[in-house]
Amino acid sequence: EADKRESLYITSTFAAKFFENNLWNTDEGRSIGLSYFKERGFREDTLKKFEIGYSPEEWTALHDAAIAEGHKPEFLEETGLVIKNDKGSVYDRFRTRVIFPIHNFTGRIIGFGGRTLKSDKKIPKYVNSPESEIYHKSKVLYGLYHAKKAIRDRDNCFLVEGYADVMAVHQAGVENVVASSGTSLTTEQIKLIGRFTKNVTILYDGDAAGIKASLRGLDMILEEGMNVKVVLFPDGHDPDSYIQQHGASEFKTHIELKTKDFIFYKTEILLQDAGNDPIKKAGIIRDIIESIAKIPDAIKASVYLRECSGLLQMEEQILIAELNKIRLSKS
Ligand code: UTP
Ligand code: MN
Ligand code: MN
Ligand code: MN
Ligand code: MN
Repeated sequence: EADKRESLYITSTFAAKFFENNLWNTDEGRSIGLSYFKERGFREDTLKKFEIGYSPEEWTALHDAAIAEGHKPEFLEETGLVIKNDKGSVYDRFRTRVIFPIHNFTGRIIGFGGRTLKSDKKIPKYVNSPESEIYHKSKVLYGLYHAKKAIRDRDNCFLVEGYADVMAVHQAGVENVVASSGTSLTTEQIKLIGRFTKNVTILYDGDAAGIKASLRGLDMILEEGMNVKVVLFPDGHDPDSYIQQHGASEFKTHIELKTKDFIFYKTEILLQDAGNDPIKKAGIIRDIIESIAKIPDAIKASVYLRECSGLLQMEEQILIAELNKIRLSKS
């Protein structure tokens, strides 16, 4: 009920303050956490804006501090900040990690992502809060609280993969940016963006996984009746690493020059591995028509069909017939 939710918010806020205090005001936090962010090029004002923190290398540091302040064990467990093992002993979920608090869009802290600073491949890179009564990850966008005004003002939302990408893009002066962190993009997240703008630009990682996720994401965005564009990043870069290597102004230029409407992006990506194989090319045409079939607005869909006809040198009438076939099979 409402009282319990309020307690979960309060406990989460306490934890965020605890982690933040550790980052700025302890030797361990400064020498490990803060120096890590500085090496990655993050400024202090950016870290403060996103309320970034550090969890110390101890089993029960947060737990003990929270209990001493009167926070109930049940709320520490429900938020997943503390884990109870089979034998009944408790320990902190986040240890020796830099901490990204996750806000809901009104600014309350509802969960956390924690990144390890070790390069040991056996350790998961990120640990995230579990689902709780206040944290439903499929309905949350990381960074939305800090981005929502800019999303409205610019009438566009940049969508990235990671916590660090959100922070880096924001720091580069592009504040209308969010991530579907800890989960692949959901329809609920797209609808949430839709409350602020109908225009989404996907900036996923320039690797096979990122490209695959972008193709899936763009179909989902089209299905919600929204407009979607994509920017591809070179040679395994993500937005954060691109900014780190090339700087904010080159990043902005890259976005300006490389933003492609979904149909040009998808055509380019699919054509790359089809070569001159006619059967593969037929598959591509069908695949692109599948995307166009998701567009609810008939006029918009027909404009894209014409574009597709030009791009793939295929008669529009054939494409229209194919589109109608797909539509019929789905109704
Ligand atoms: P990436 O592997 O691309 O990490 O995962 P990243 O964001 O670029 O991280 P840095 O730059 O190395 O710090 C993208 C996002 O996927 C989620 C996180 O939200 C991450 O930001 N993820 C990734 C997890 O939840 N768990 C993982 O183990 C890895
Ligand atoms: Mn990745
Ligand atoms: Mn990445
Ligand atoms: Mn990265
Ligand atoms: Mn480069």
